[in-house]
Amino acid sequence: MKQKILVAGGTGYIGSHTTVELQNAGYDVIIIDNLSNSNIEVLDGIEHITGIRPKFIELDLKDKEATRKALASQPGIKGIILFAASKAVGESVQKPLLYYRNNITTLINLLELMPEFGIEGIVFSSSCTVYGQPDPENLPVTENAPIKPATSPYGNTKQINEEIIRDTIHAGAPFKSVILRYFNPIGAHPTAEIGELPNGVPQNLIPYLTQTAIGIRKELSVFGDDYNTPDGSCIRDYINIVDLAKAHVTAIDRLLGGKSAKDIEIFNLGTGCGVSVLELINTFEQATGVKVPHKIVARREGDIEQVWANPERANKVLGWKAQETLADTLASAWKWQLKLRERGIM
Ligand code: UFG
Repeated sequence: MKQKILVAGGTGYIGSHTTVELQNAGYDVIIIDNLSNSNIEVLDGIEHITGIRPKFIELDLKDKEATRKALASQPGIKGIILFAASKAVGESVQKPLLYYRNNITTLINLLELMPEFGIEGIVFSSSCTVYGQPDPENLPVTENAPIKPATSPYGNTKQINEEIIRDTIHAGAPFKSVILRYFNPIGAHPTAEIGELPNGVPQNLIPYLTQTAIGIRKELSVFGDDYNTPDGSCIRDYINIVDLAKAHVTAIDRLLGGKSAKDIEIFNLGTGCGVSVLELINTFEQATGVKVPHKIVARREGDIEQVWANPERANKVLGWKAQETLADTLASAWKWQLKLRERGIM
């Protein structure tokens, strides 16, 4: 029988791609989302790709009683993947309580409810933001690199949530957890049926870049070329969204298959390659043949100079490895942008 997985935040960017990969792998997915930062039509995209429309419950996971009712209506859920969270770094600085309430209440509610419903494992979406700027000897970063004080309430919620999960499991909770620390997820499903739908003016590099390439924005600002990096622009580890989604399937397989070595395991999800902003623009232009007007501006406050992953633990233990090239990933982001135009969305 198909195992049931709850994807909390499943209509969002990473949640929708993960739902596709879970369904492709034979899992039965139930999505809970309050649609605060996503669109119900995402379900059509998932259905077009997989032929299966996931079950969908519209609800705010901060509401514990409503969540309890939803879980009771779907008996037999074995695992949860928790994506549902607010994620804009800048907004979190302006509205810290919104971030603490959304991101922390949701996790506490789910952890409290898991034993009631016999749910065996939870995969948690964390971020490389927990490493801050790693010291040079810690690059590429492993999971053992020191956790640095968070530079935003958003980043702090990721650290606090990791601690909440750790403390709960250490106290003997009857479930296991896999914490996944994402580097920079980018791109879209190769069918362009689903992708990233930013609200308003994008804060992240790729949506800003593709919106500039298609003419919605005049030019892309490159935040600083005076960093201590080979070309002076910041370095990140850009990970393909479908590759990232597949890692969740291996994490769930591991949790539910009784393969986890410990009750809580942490994995970096990245490619292992650092790429600068200027290199990325160049790769996009070569992959698509489309020019991206850009100019160098001042550094963005709070930016990390350089961070990229050592993904060896995920490679060895999960048996997962990023496969897509950066060029193909950027081409998928462009195809998605063209699709949004075709559909009259942007
Ligand atoms: N950048 C630009 N111009 C832009 C936008 C971004 O030059 O218009 C640069 C940034 O300075 C940075 C790189 O592109 O060097 C990537 O920036 P993003 O905003 O896309 O991503 P960040 O690395 O800043 O942040 C991301 C996620 C966070 C997460 C963080 C972890 O958005 O949720 O990675 O480091 F916490």
